[in-house]
Amino acid sequence: MNKFTFYNPVKLIFGKGQLETIATELPKLGKKVLVVYGGGSIKKNGLYDEVMETLASADMEIFELAGVEPNPRLSTAKKGIEICKKENIDMLLAVGGGSVIDCAKLIASGAKYEGDAWDFVTRKAQPKDALPFGTVLTLAATGSEMNAGSVITNEETQEKYGWGSPFSFPKFSVLDPTYTMTVPEDQTAYGIVDMMSHMFEQYFHNAENTPVQDQMIEGVLRAVIETGPKLMQDLQSYEHRETILFAGTMGLNNFLQMGYNGDWATHNIEHAVSAVYDIPHAGGLSILFPHWMRHNVKVNPARFAQLAVRVFGVDSAGKTDEETALEGIDRLSAFWTSLGAPSRLEDYKIDDSSFESIIEKTLVYGEFGNFNKLNDKDVREILQASV
Ligand code: NZQ
Ligand code: ZN
Repeated sequence: MNKFTFYNPVKLIFGKGQLETIATELPKLGKKVLVVYGGGSIKKNGLYDEVMETLASADMEIFELAGVEPNPRLSTAKKGIEICKKENIDMLLAVGGGSVIDCAKLIASGAKYEGDAWDFVTRKAQPKDALPFGTVLTLAATGSEMNAGSVITNEETQEKYGWGSPFSFPKFSVLDPTYTMTVPEDQTAYGIVDMMSHMFEQYFHNAENTPVQDQMIEGVLRAVIETGPKLMQDLQSYEHRETILFAGTMGLNNFLQMGYNGDWATHNIEHAVSAVYDIPHAGGLSILFPHWMRHNVKVNPARFAQLAVRVFGVDSAGKTDEETALEGIDRLSAFWTSLGAPSRLEDYKIDDSSFESIIEKTLVYGEFGNFNKLNDKDVREILQASV
C-alpha cells in the first residue's frame, strides 16, 4: 500500500432514539441554528416536528431553509448563505439525504466567504473557514454524513462537480434507522447501488499488498448483497434498515480507502450525465458501472476475477480470469436490475445526442480515473455501450 495519513473527525451517533443528542451537541456550537432540509419528506414522516421540538427544548434560535433539491443546486445553497450572513447564524443542522447534507456543506463554507461559493466547487478558491454543522441522516446512500465531500449542480451552466475541504466534515451525524423507514422503494434501491458503487470505486486501485482493505470492502459488499433484497421485500424492517444504513456510512467514510486512491472515473461520468439530464445519481451509476468494468477488465483481469469469486460467488474452475471477471460483472448487473435499478440510458429516455457535451464535462480536469486513465474515446465507448 502507499503511505497515508487518515483523518476523520466526525462524531457518529448511531441508533434508535439518538435524535435527542442534538439538544446537547448543537448548543456547544452556539445559539442560532439554520435547519436545512429537502422537499418535504421530513414533514410527512414526522421528523421535522421532532427536530423542532428537540431544538426548542434546548432553547435554540431556529431559522430554516427548505426545498433543497435532489442533485442540490447552487442557487439554493446561495439562499442559505444569504440567511447565514444576514442573521449571523452560528451553525447548521442538515436533516435529510446526501443532497441536503451536500448543500449544507457549501452553505457552511460560503457563509464565511466574500466571493462566489461556486469558486469552491470549481476549485478556484479553497475555504479558509466554515460554520460548523451537524446532520440527521434520513437516507442510506452517499456517506456524506461522515465525509468531507459535497456534490453541487450549477443549473445555469449544467455543471455538476464534487468538491470538499477539511472544513466540510460534519461535527456530528445522527443516524437512527427509524428515520430511513419511509424511504420509498426506488430511492432505497438507488441507495444500495450508490454505496456498492463507492466500494467498487475504492476496490479498483493500483496499490499492491492490500489484503486487509480488499477483505473489508468484500465483507461490506457481501453484507449489502445479502441484506439488500431482504430489505426490498420488507421496507419496514428496522434490522435491515440498520444494516444498510451502517453499510452506506462505512462505504464512503474513507475507512475503506486507506493506502491508495480509488478509481472514481464512473462517478465523474455519472456526474456529467446527471448535470445534463438531472437523473438520480445512483440510477446513472447502475447503468454506467457495469460498462466501466467491461471496458477496463483487461487492465487487471485478476482483480476483477477476485471480486467475482469472493463477492458474487462465481465458480472460477476451468475459466480464465477474464471469463470469471465477466461473469461477475453480469451478476452485478443482474443484481441491480433485480432491485429495480435501471440498466440502460434509454430507461431515462437518454440517447446519444448530448454525448459530446457530457464527454467535455468529464474531461474538464483532463484525463481521469486512478485505476485506468480515461480519455474522450474511452468515455464515448462507455456511454455508447450504455445506451
Ligand atoms: O427532498 P425530500 O423531500 O427530503 O425527499 C428526498 C429526495 O426526494 C427523499 N428522501 C430522503 N429521505 C427520505 C426521503 N423520502 C422519504 N423518507 C425519507 N426518510 O429521497 C430523495 C433523494 O434524496 P437525495 O438526498 O437526493 O438522495 P441521496 O442521499 O442519494 O443523495 C444524492 C446526492 O448526493 C450526491 C449525488 O451526486 C446526489 O447529488 N453524492 C454525494 C456524495 C458525497 N457527498 O460524498 C457522494 C455520492 O457519490 C454522490 O455523488
Ligand atoms: Zn455515489
